[in-house]
Amino acid sequence: MGQRLRQRPGGGAPARYADAGELLADDRAHVWHPYASATDPLPVFPVASASGVRLRLADGRELIDGMSSWWAAIHGYAHPVLDAAVRAQLDDMAHVMFGGLTHAPAVTLARTLVEITPPPLTRVFFCDSGSVSVEVAIKMALQYARGRGRPGRTKLLTIRRGYHGDTSGAMAVCDPDTGMHHLFTGLLPRHLFAEAPRPGFDEPCEDEHVAGIARLLDEHQHEIAAVICEPVVQGAGAMRFYAPGWLARLRELCDTHGILLIADEIATGFGRSGELFGCDHAGISPDIMCVGKAMTGGYLTMAATLCTDEVAAGVCASEAGVFMHGPTFMGNPLAAAVANASIGLLLSGPWRRQVGDLRIWLAEGLAPARALPGVADVRTLGAIGVIETREPVDMRVIQPLLVELGVWVRPFGRLVYAMPPYVMTRPDVAALTAAMVEAVARTT
Ligand SMILES: Cc1ncc(COP(=O)(O)O)c(C=O)c1O
Repeated sequence: MGQRLRQRPGGGAPARYADAGELLADDRAHVWHPYASATDPLPVFPVASASGVRLRLADGRELIDGMSSWWAAIHGYAHPVLDAAVRAQLDDMAHVMFGGLTHAPAVTLARTLVEITPPPLTRVFFCDSGSVSVEVAIKMALQYARGRGRPGRTKLLTIRRGYHGDTSGAMAVCDPDTGMHHLFTGLLPRHLFAEAPRPGFDEPCEDEHVAGIARLLDEHQHEIAAVICEPVVQGAGAMRFYAPGWLARLRELCDTHGILLIADEIATGFGRSGELFGCDHAGISPDIMCVGKAMTGGYLTMAATLCTDEVAAGVCASEAGVFMHGPTFMGNPLAAAVANASIGLLLSGPWRRQVGDLRIWLAEGLAPARALPGVADVRTLGAIGVIETREPVDMRVIQPLLVELGVWVRPFGRLVYAMPPYVMTRPDVAALTAAMVEAVARTT
């Protein structure tokens, strides 16, 4: 504070680093990585390029990618169809504002999203990232309540162990413990939290399993604008799967209480859980749906919030008459063009078989971890494979070990998990899972 800025002669760092050591020195000096300490950072690994399901490190090592870059790169890297879509769009325009203007990439994408998501979602609002799409969903629910003459409905009801993003509105509906709400006292609105559904995708859902959330809906009906949850898979908060029957019961409860249901499909959307959307497992439709991540095949940041005609009409009946949101890069043509190409590739390909195979191969490969003393659970659903350890993993030890074993897997807490690109072959899944099991065996 108060210090004069130091002038840099020569205008900054080279575009390309001669060696990885220099890059890492600048990284350590200036870059702040996600969920990282700036003063005592964990090691990071410089990537020179990526293609197919492999990341090539600056030192020449190749890693099999088990993360799809935080679950987005479902077709793998440097896919010729996606590369071509970005290049072609660049010839027309990289970006134009969306206020007062429109363009084919965004309109096409909106139509496609409406076609492939459960009816009656009809209206699409584009946003920059998953977290922003959750902010947009929450704001839609609040403006809808006002538009329908219920201004007292200002709270959200959600379930524990959830994750919905890192902006403050989204954080406020993340699990209060894993999301460390106490750090942000005063900033975050206080919402209502029901117990997380019982774990187990194949479990039946009885009345008693929804009794807690039903009670909260009864007690707070006139304060609640919407219920928000991740359908069937609770991702970044817990890597936990629950029964579609529970989601179907939640839909019924929202209907009987006249409360909107927001489905956060940012992690589950576009096939990851074995159906195109998590809601499809339960055969339900939400009033508002958030999608992101895999929408652009992991190429560019873009998300969308969809809603029904009824929600749109309610929002626009509020005193503003409009929806009060409009980001600078809304509907970005490059991102929309690659999203169109990615969804086209997905729907014209054998994604259902690929995801089904991945579930079998992940289950086979991770099964030996069940016998390890440090392992509490092994589970799979769709293209998701999870080893849950008894104690939190030590990232300083396990991360370099996984790299040494030739795979890119980014554990957190007690979870060592994989969400590979859908195009991964059986031998690569075998190598990936063997490395995960070995890393867990050697570190827990
Ligand atoms: C279910 C869910 N919602 C929201 C988000 C936030 O998305 P983003 O990181 O694009 O802001 C995530 C990210 O992991 C997510 O899994």
